[in-house]
Amino acid sequence: MSFQMIAMPSSATERKKVTLTDLQRKKVQGQPITMLTAYDYPTAKALDEAGLDVILVGDSLGMVVLGYPNTLQVTMEEMLHHCRAVARGARTAFLVGDMPFMSYQVSVQEAVRNAGRFLQEGGMEAVKLEGGRERAETIRAIVAAGIPVMGHLGLTPQSIHQLGGFRLQGRHAAEARRLLEDALILQEAGCFSLVLESVPQQLAALITQQLEIPSIGIGAGAGCDGQVLVTHDLLGLFDRFTPRFVKQYAQLYPLMRAAFAQYIAEVQDGSFPGDEHSFTMSEEEWRSFLQQTHNLVPGLFAENIK
Ligand code: KIV
Repeated sequence: MSFQMIAMPSSATERKKVTLTDLQRKKVQGQPITMLTAYDYPTAKALDEAGLDVILVGDSLGMVVLGYPNTLQVTMEEMLHHCRAVARGARTAFLVGDMPFMSYQVSVQEAVRNAGRFLQEGGMEAVKLEGGRERAETIRAIVAAGIPVMGHLGLTPQSIHQLGGFRLQGRHAAEARRLLEDALILQEAGCFSLVLESVPQQLAALITQQLEIPSIGIGAGAGCDGQVLVTHDLLGLFDRFTPRFVKQYAQLYPLMRAAFAQYIAEVQDGSFPGDEHSFTMSEEEWRSFLQQTHNLVPGLFAENIK
């Protein structure tokens, strides 16, 4: 593994809770916002301790943790289960829960109810949902219920069949114009931030300049106000495919496999567990035990009792 050991920032116990005001201030002051995904307690804890601004419990959960072919099968119950684990691990990062497919598309009322569950049952502080102008009414209603909403434009994986695959969005002028319009509509609808996924970098930078709220890019270049990646991609833990926009900071999957193979070999050859990983009874207690039990299994213990 080759990555630099970077000094940890002030520990999470010293760091103050990250709020929406902090994220907005970062946009105004030109300080990049950092966001990554987490789906479990230890990852959330490590991200928090490393000083991350925003943890997203993404519906990428379905692909990188649950083994589904895409994000469409992820349910509210699965999302909430993992949100709770993340909320237990994170102390200071701002927590965003990703609304799964069909949890906000059927009706505005259902969308508000499901968004509320992320806060009430999942321990999240905001929700994210995918889509452009067609979601404006839903976003307005969720925000009116007091729930912060992060939008998601460009490559929206829940529309994968409509988009014809995981591909760059906004490559052509008309499509790019629609994306810019959508970004402004979502801002007007009340989103506190927008994810821009798989969008040409000039377009993402221009949208970012036009927005008062922070943009968070993934495959959208350095001109966004912040960046997000799927943590399993960053760690090299997801082996099915790695999009071009991912930088792998570690390759943990081969390390994991090697550790498992070594465990299997050591159990098989008897070298694990050794004495250092085992517990011993005192000689006195052991003798007493043998004396008390030799009637039960006389053949087995007779030779051990002096
Ligand atoms: O589900 C997810 O992890 C996401 C990020 C890629 C933004 O939506």
